[in-house]
Amino acid sequence: MKHFNIALIPGDGIGPEVVAEGIKVLKAIEEADKTISFTFKEFPWGCEYYLKNGKMMDDDALDILKDYDAIYLGAVGYPGVPDHISLRDLLIKIRKGFDQYVNLRPVELLHPDLTPLKNKTEKDIDMLVIRENSEGEYSGAGDWLFKDKPEEVVLQTGVFSRKGTERIIRYAYEEARKSNRTLTSISKGNALNYSMVFWDQVFEEVGKEYPDVKTYSYLVDAASLYFVSQPERFEVVVTSNLFGDIVTDIGAAITGGMGLATGANINPERKYPSMFEPVHGSAPDIAGKGIANPIAAIWSVSQMLDFFGLEEWAEAVLNTIKQILKENTYLTPDLGGSVSTDELGSHFVELLIKNRG
Ligand code: NAD
Ligand code: IPM
Ligand code: MN
Repeated sequence: MKHFNIALIPGDGIGPEVVAEGIKVLKAIEEADKTISFTFKEFPWGCEYYLKNGKMMDDDALDILKDYDAIYLGAVGYPGVPDHISLRDLLIKIRKGFDQYVNLRPVELLHPDLTPLKNKTEKDIDMLVIRENSEGEYSGAGDWLFKDKPEEVVLQTGVFSRKGTERIIRYAYEEARKSNRTLTSISKGNALNYSMVFWDQVFEEVGKEYPDVKTYSYLVDAASLYFVSQPERFEVVVTSNLFGDIVTDIGAAITGGMGLATGANINPERKYPSMFEPVHGSAPDIAGKGIANPIAAIWSVSQMLDFFGLEEWAEAVLNTIKQILKENTYLTPDLGGSVSTDELGSHFVELLIKNRG
């Protein structure tokens, strides 16, 4: 029997709505496969918790979470709590605290009708963006000098350590080698004369150990253009924390929207738990209406299953997502359908179990 302990942080807005559907999927797998079991523990952390308790999570949150096999997160952030507090004190704190330095964001077109791009098919949009997830522009270092004075100056420091830069770039080379794909680095050495010059140098240095991997290096502005005009250029992509954040929203746009974009925050050494979450936020504009698309959150369950070594179930979940998109009858309003979050999730589970026999 394989057993996994999962910490749930549904969070804010549509977070709890979509996480509920991901849990349905995990419970259905447990029911269908007697060799697997899950236990879930839910934590009420998020903006409501902050408004009641003055903090986003308990002070010993990382200590509480550290022994779980995985964390499943919905979304964090809501009007009424400043975003830099809600996100830095929860999401970024966990990513950093658990050294989840690899953020795996597949940008894959799961059905040709979903892309707004003309004449692009599944084979044109099929990449894995590997985003540095522990430092860079998100280091939190900086200063606010002469506040409210005419000479006011604000500094936001990007931190690119040798260790942090090398390990993410090496991870990406390994991934490209393993899967026999090209590797593209996205940076900005023409303007960022310390951080990105260093990044480019490390990309080249580490590359010497991988002569078999074909590489490309683009400036982030040009890369953003190519994401839209020629996404077929990209296979495995490695980039910094902030650039990875931005280009993966472009990735979402070309593959069907935020309701379909997933991300895994991985600590490859497995010293700490990894965290699985949709790329989207709490979507206050649609929260509470029961219309959020749960597919991104369900895809992150597939990433979690893969991480657990349950590859067959991971694949079955992804195939069922593709089937639902192909059927085109059980879609939420963001994809032009009219079913609810809950209806999609229930239909999903039926199909998944039927497919697996
Ligand atoms: P958002 O991703 O929440 O929403 C952007 C747009 O996409 C909105 O129009 C929304 O309705 C739509 N959308 C998002 N997810 C959807 C889904 N599952 N189904 C259908 N439509 C969906 O981004 P935002 O509006 O910039 O941010 C809202 C809040 O979420 C902010 O507080 C922000 O800081 C936070 N945020 C959190 C995370 C996270 O927790 N991982 C990620 C991004 C943003
Ligand atoms: C994401 C989000 C977060 C990020 C925010 C909410 C801090 O946009 O996961 O893409 O920038 O990493
Ligand atoms: Mn983002």
